[in-house]
Amino acid sequence: MSATSGLQLRGLTKTYANGVKALNGIDLSVPPGLYGLLGPNGAGKSTLMRTLATLQAPDAGQIELDGVDVLADPDHLRRRLGYLPQTIGAYPGVSGRDLLDRFAWLKGRTERRQRRAEVEALLQRVNLGDAAHRAVATYSGGMLRRFGIAMALIGSPRLLIVDEPTAGLDPAERNRFHRVLADVAAEAVVLLSTHIVEDIENLCARLAILARGRIVAEGTPAELSSALAGRLWARVVPRGEALPAAVQLTAVPGGTLAVVLAEASPGPGFQPHPATLEDAYHVALAAAGLSDEEA
Ligand SMILES: Nc1ncnc2c1ncn2[C@@H]1O[C@H](COP(=O)(O)OP(=O)(O)OP(=O)(O)O)[C@@H](O)[C@H]1O
Ligand SMILES: [Mg+2]
Repeated sequence: MSATSGLQLRGLTKTYANGVKALNGIDLSVPPGLYGLLGPNGAGKSTLMRTLATLQAPDAGQIELDGVDVLADPDHLRRRLGYLPQTIGAYPGVSGRDLLDRFAWLKGRTERRQRRAEVEALLQRVNLGDAAHRAVATYSGGMLRRFGIAMALIGSPRLLIVDEPTAGLDPAERNRFHRVLADVAAEAVVLLSTHIVEDIENLCARLAILARGRIVAEGTPAELSSALAGRLWARVVPRGEALPAAVQLTAVPGGTLAVVLAEASPGPGFQPHPATLEDAYHVALAAAGLSDEEA
């Protein structure tokens, strides 16, 4: 594969008509495999994903997929794109199998036998074979998410964009969904947005943290957390005592667990705290001027 394999973004900006600067100069290199886009509500994740899916144009900047200029030649990307938006409108009373078949037809799968075979393979892949005859309107939230991924996978996309796909899924469904994504990532660029750190920690080879339209951190989960090694300290602050300025405050039996960033122990009672990706996320947001409350 060439050096430009994957998705390259340079200087992407987008200001909405209401003045919100949703993307504020995004530079990012997304290699093939599973890549996480982590950020709080309103960070700009969906804006970035809609822009990459060529559903809206940036004000400025460049996008390349495998070295091809996407804004100059959007069809090159569209032919290779699978996109699962954050919200999907009403689902019809049509069966899962029939709906998938229609979408495959729309995507240019006009040869009936091949299309049928692809649809059946996709239904098996997302474990909806047994429910394929049921109306999509009767699917549970988890089934709908898996059905969405089947739709996005029609035509074996080179680029798969999934926007907060695991919101509202139970742990078993989330795991099942993650396994499908990991599978696809073996042969494609898979960009996954979420505000759930756990979704990314074990799943993504690399991630970017997005806040207020900017990339505030980028790397492997291990790189991001190891940057904090030896600099985090924790103490359970008893109820009623003043809380320190902290990276994270978590309610625990007996009070509040305060995790503090400091080059040396910030005071009596503090123990060294092993850094997690979640800590790195909160530190990156704080450095970007976003408090936990805003996040
Ligand atoms: N069509 C729009 N018109 C005006 N402002 C918008 C529009 N879409 C998004 N925004 C604003 O742009 C910012 C980024 O929104 P976006 O939906 O991209 O964030 P997000 O990271 O996907 O958030 P969430 O985690 O809540 O889905 C927010 O301030 C949002 O209110
Ligand atoms: Mg969003």
